[in-house]
Amino acid sequence: MKAAVYYETGAPDVFKYEDVPDPHLFPQGVLIRVEAVSIEGGDTLNRGGGAMAGRPHIVGYQAAGTILEVGSEVGDLKPGQRVVTVNAFGSHAELRVVAARTAWPVPDGMDIRIAAAIPVPFGTAHECLFEFGRLKAGETVLVQAGASAVGIAAIQLAKQAGATVIATASSEARLAKLTPLGLDHGIDYARADVAQEIMRLTGNKGVDLVVDPVGGATLPSSLASLAYRGRISLVGNAGREPQKVDVSSLMPGNRSLTGVFLGAEIATDRVHDNIQRLIGEVAAGRLSVLIDSTYPLSEAAAAHAYIESRKAVGRVLLIP
Ligand SMILES: NC(=O)c1ccc[n+]([C@@H]2O[C@H](COP(=O)([O-])OP(=O)(O)OC[C@H]3O[C@@H](n4cnc5c(N)ncnc54)[C@H](OP(=O)(O)O)[C@@H]3O)[C@@H](O)[C@H]2O)c1
Repeated sequence: MKAAVYYETGAPDVFKYEDVPDPHLFPQGVLIRVEAVSIEGGDTLNRGGGAMAGRPHIVGYQAAGTILEVGSEVGDLKPGQRVVTVNAFGSHAELRVVAARTAWPVPDGMDIRIAAAIPVPFGTAHECLFEFGRLKAGETVLVQAGASAVGIAAIQLAKQAGATVIATASSEARLAKLTPLGLDHGIDYARADVAQEIMRLTGNKGVDLVVDPVGGATLPSSLASLAYRGRISLVGNAGREPQKVDVSSLMPGNRSLTGVFLGAEIATDRVHDNIQRLIGEVAAGRLSVLIDSTYPLSEAAAAHAYIESRKAVGRVLLIP
């Protein structure tokens, strides 16, 4: 098969488009022909400096396609079915094998490119808001990096749950694309101090919950934006900076900072079933997936470079 591979981590130009051996099916796995690869935020971080499963390495968490073959122990999926799949690596290829547990059937009529972009961002946002963030109707949420895929999912899910939703992004133009998703207030963090704006918008109360996929220099503004008993779901390192924070404001305000990692629970019944439900919500039109652009798989380097230019709002896809 063809794949976008690299031999060393680094800038987007580490990608080479090469012939590599087909992946091996295992008894609990499914082999799919990939039809759409959703480039996840973690894929760019992994390409930049993450672990490699081998040399060459095929990066990538999320891709959708059609099942070609199922392992001997797989009972609930069958060849010909369309699925969206998640794994620690291997999406940037014409074929991939994943555990059946992390493959979700795609509803009839759903565009495979939309399906490709659902499980990780929506599953993660749901964990940040509800499982770990304990969000309740009437509360106020700050979504840092609102124009990220996790942010786009979090804005919609928080709004559906009856929260007031505030989000940050690096420009007004990026924020404008979030308003139709249910955003109540946008903060252009290139121009305004986030915590000061939050205090102004909330009458000095602060927000009940922050979803922070950026960390680094952003995390202090998340801490400074919290209300009494406020919570932070820290879910990423999009800022690519060391996580050094002063947590002294947590204790006097009964506040909390919780790490969230979807991968640790994605194979549980709870999360597996929730992701299938979220796919259904998108199919029913109650949640939206934003697709920014598509590139051929052979142009993975250009697609990654475009994402790192921070012009995309919504997913950039690779099509084998
Ligand atoms: N823990 C988990 O289970 C889990 C699951 C999914 C994702 N994540 C993590 O969550 C983060 C977001 O993922 P995603 O897929 O939503 O990302 P994405 O769609 O690629 O968006 C990332 C956004 O982060 C913002 N950003 C801030 N500082 C940045 C920097 N120095 N370089 C690049 N972008 C920067 C940019 O928006 P602005 O320009 O508007 O600031 C960018 O659009 C990633 O770190 C990812 O690894 C974690």
